[in-house]
Amino acid sequence: MNYFKILAFETSCDDTSVSVIDSNYRVFSNCISSQTKHEEFGGVVPELASRLHLQNITWLTQLALEKAGTDLVGIDAVAVSINPGLIGSLLVGVSFAKGLAYAINKPVIAVNHILGHLYAIKLDYPHLEPPYLALIVSGGHTELVYFSSRTEFEIIGRTRDDAAGEAFDKGAKLLNLGYPGGPVIDRLARTGDPAFVAFPRGLDRRESNDFSFSGLKTSIRNYLSDKDGSFISEHLQDIAASLQAAIVDILIKKTLRYARQQRIERIVVAGGVSANSYLRERMQKDAERTGIELFLPALQYCMDNAAMIGAAAIEKYRLGDFAGLDLNAFSTKGLRLL
Ligand code: KG4
Ligand code: ZN
Repeated sequence: MNYFKILAFETSCDDTSVSVIDSNYRVFSNCISSQTKHEEFGGVVPELASRLHLQNITWLTQLALEKAGTDLVGIDAVAVSINPGLIGSLLVGVSFAKGLAYAINKPVIAVNHILGHLYAIKLDYPHLEPPYLALIVSGGHTELVYFSSRTEFEIIGRTRDDAAGEAFDKGAKLLNLGYPGGPVIDRLARTGDPAFVAFPRGLDRRESNDFSFSGLKTSIRNYLSDKDGSFISEHLQDIAASLQAAIVDILIKKTLRYARQQRIERIVVAGGVSANSYLRERMQKDAERTGIELFLPALQYCMDNAAMIGAAAIEKYRLGDFAGLDLNAFSTKGLRLL
């Protein structure tokens, strides 16, 4: 019970991932197969995603075990993300994990994908425990959550419309930069001027801790409507930097404002958007200035991966919090401790 190894699965969207991790948060393997096929459609096609998960999950499992230098006999439990996500994709992971656990007679641990993103921080800071404020920013979620303990949390704010990652993706689509938009905007913005266009900061002046990003998309569309192709390509970096600043500024401002108001000393950022270099640099500087300690996941654990699912499963294993073979996937959004 003291030392154990978990085989973890993540198939909630368009990345198939399998990882072997131990009870000390040591990652032995974290294999990810990203489905690039969706690029030609400008977004994730759910039916295609589940079919690709099905094609990849077996060989990825073999690879993850091989890289970890173990076989199924060395595995003590199987963990899998069960929500939120695309239902067909989740079902591939859940069915595979249950079948495997049954075959090797080991328990299954159900993990909420958003909680998994948060636990990615444990892979670099295994001893980090609440209380802390968490900013969770992914393709489907934008939530400011206060964790007072491992088992108690309060949602402080959330997006009223688009998620932060979605805002990056939709902005990139309007600029014909393909999908996903976050990484390409991040790269272009490095040489651009963030003050080139004053895109709106959603719910900026309000005291509310909620976010709103749908106005930004409309504003970009309006801005681009009277610009010709050569102007856009000449100023692509500047437009990307301005778009990025509009998303990141408000995320940082509201998170730090709440932390200061409540005298919270530690902040954790999680989810795909936590890979954003401008967010990482700016937030680090601003947090330091106010004496707040900031914890950012390592870049390789920001986006969807199975190691974070395994990390979230470790405590559940210790608590004996196992799922039955009637475990099912569900697509409902939101953070849960399950
Ligand atoms: O957490 P994640 O991998 O999947 C979900 O659970 O949604 O997040 C994916 C999102 C996408 O919207 C993607 O554009 C965004 O994270 N993203 C980024 C960066 N890398 C990924 N956004 C901004 N800057 C990045 N470097
Ligand atoms: Zn995710």
